[in-house]
Amino acid sequence: MPVILAIESSCDETSAAVCADGRMLSNVIANQTIHEAYGGVVPELASRVHQQNIVPAVQQALSNAKVSKNDIDAVAFTRGPGLLGSLLVGVSFAKAFALAKNIPLIEVNHMQAHVLAHFIGDNKPSFPFMCLTVSGGHTQIVLVKDYFDMEVVGQTLDDAAGEAMDKTSKILGLPYPGGPLIDKHARSGNPDVYKFPEPQIPGFDFSFSGLKTSILYFIRDNTAANPNFVQENMADICASVEKRIATILLNKLKKAAEYYDIKDVALAGGVSANTGLRNALKETGEQLAWNTFIPKMEYCTDNAAMIAIAGYYKYLKGEFVGQDITPLARMSF
Ligand code: KG4
Ligand code: ZN
Repeated sequence: MPVILAIESSCDETSAAVCADGRMLSNVIANQTIHEAYGGVVPELASRVHQQNIVPAVQQALSNAKVSKNDIDAVAFTRGPGLLGSLLVGVSFAKAFALAKNIPLIEVNHMQAHVLAHFIGDNKPSFPFMCLTVSGGHTQIVLVKDYFDMEVVGQTLDDAAGEAMDKTSKILGLPYPGGPLIDKHARSGNPDVYKFPEPQIPGFDFSFSGLKTSILYFIRDNTAANPNFVQENMADICASVEKRIATILLNKLKKAAEYYDIKDVALAGGVSANTGLRNALKETGEQLAWNTFIPKMEYCTDNAAMIAIAGYYKYLKGEFVGQDITPLARMSF
């Protein structure tokens, strides 16, 4: 019954979690609000705040889980992909902890961990399943054949879905991070008022940069005619953008699920917190008789619980790494 301490520090959330035999005992997430003033994550500031938060986050995770340092059997950490300076803080902490306690170290790929978040709790998809992983840095359709046997069958050629959300919110004058604010405004808007284009990209790949440009021109032209256009129509604009992003994602997901003949379909990553996207997946799932899987909110955006569950399955396979391990800003499956 391994007790695993997990660390996530790939971007701007410092997170620590403890799981015992695959059951999550705690998941502490320290959000960094310092970046709001800059309209995006400032890598150097992110590393410094991780440095400040990492020990308190781990202490809190141990205390919430009611375990002591001596109860930990292994340490799992995010090796990449992510911001190098941020990753270094988590990797160095994990190495030091493992060295001090003489316990194994487990490296975890952040994108695989987003997918494996579906194995926290009782409602688990069965292999093979399809996972749409949508975050601030990635947009991937992943064919999941086993815990660590995953194939990216479609991905974005330019911006990620979360980036499209964040850039749109910036155009609308909303603070960073914009995704949750677009979601909030969209709830009181009509998604059918404005029609934004759907890019025609072959296969299962995505593109969001054209959408961003069309939104930019749309806002520029309408603001020239009415300086209060955005303020007066915020809810309808957000609802329409959100609907377009959701349909772009869902149309490709449908295509991929049909091609690979998959009926278990899951959503993962920060953008899976989006209400419009969650509802769109549920509706499509009902139409196509899919079994749909959507993580609990706390496991959608970056968190160490997903690193802990991925670490648990690696522990069972005895997949450990040495003290010479280094973080990777880019890391494929
Ligand atoms: O997975 P994540 O927490 O971090 C990365 O690994 O990138 O994803 C962050 C992204 C951001 O772009 C954020 O705006 C978006 O997820 N996001 C949302 C919502 N919550 C977070 N986008 C739309 N609606 C939301 N409710
Ligand atoms: Zn993420």
